[in-house]
Amino acid sequence: MKLLHVVASPRGTRSRTLTIANAFLQQLQAKHPELQVQTRDLFAADLPPVDGQNMDSKYRLMVGRPIDPGHAESWAHIEALIAEFLEADIYLVSAPMWNFSIPYVLKYYIDAIVQPRYLFGYDEHGVPVGLVHGKKMVCITTRGGDYSLGTPMNAYDAQESYLRQIFGFVGITDLQCINAQPMDLAPGTRAAALEDATRAACLLADQFADAYSVA
Ligand SMILES: Cc1cc2nc3c(=O)[nH]c(=O)nc-3n(C[C@H](O)[C@H](O)[C@H](O)COP(=O)(O)O)c2cc1C
Repeated sequence: MKLLHVVASPRGTRSRTLTIANAFLQQLQAKHPELQVQTRDLFAADLPPVDGQNMDSKYRLMVGRPIDPGHAESWAHIEALIAEFLEADIYLVSAPMWNFSIPYVLKYYIDAIVQPRYLFGYDEHGVPVGLVHGKKMVCITTRGGDYSLGTPMNAYDAQESYLRQIFGFVGITDLQCINAQPMDLAPGTRAAALEDATRAACLLADQFADAYSVA
């Protein structure tokens, strides 16, 4: 069993998002020490370009043409990133809310890996279909404000909706979000929200652990 942890906070040990994500991981690993965890720290990563030759390759693949042989070396970097993604059975995405959505590095990563013929294809009517099946995803987010259902800021949450949209598009529909909020209003509120989210993350890890013990 392989878990890919996609990290989209640059704040290391000070990251609230990672504090919760690490609690999830520790809880899961306590019950499944054999779990292989691969971390893709996006702020430390040298992501392949999504322009030039790779852009040309993407457009060729979209219309069913082979890529230019002269562009294969550059495309191999995209393929390596996709291979790492597809090897995982479980995804853990750790992302703070930035300007109501995801940090730019996570969008860059998505732009690099969501490629035709690899993560999605087209059916006989030309409708896109996801190619990533049988995987689970947990998205852990923290937000400075409160975007919970029923709050005045709820409509501004373009983060959870986007994560569900793009990963659902490629076929990952078993996706659960734990959103810790508000983080930046008052220290007391933050502590309570962190505690609630950490508890929810540990409970979810227990559910995952039980599901994989049975499987
Ligand atoms: C560039 C940037 C943009 C942010 N935009 C928002 C935002 O739109 N809404 C919000 O509630 N908080 C916003 N925040 C606050 C973070 O979401 C919040 O502090 C979060 O807990 C940081 O997570 P981390 O500790 O894991 O890095 C922003 C923070 C940064 C650095």
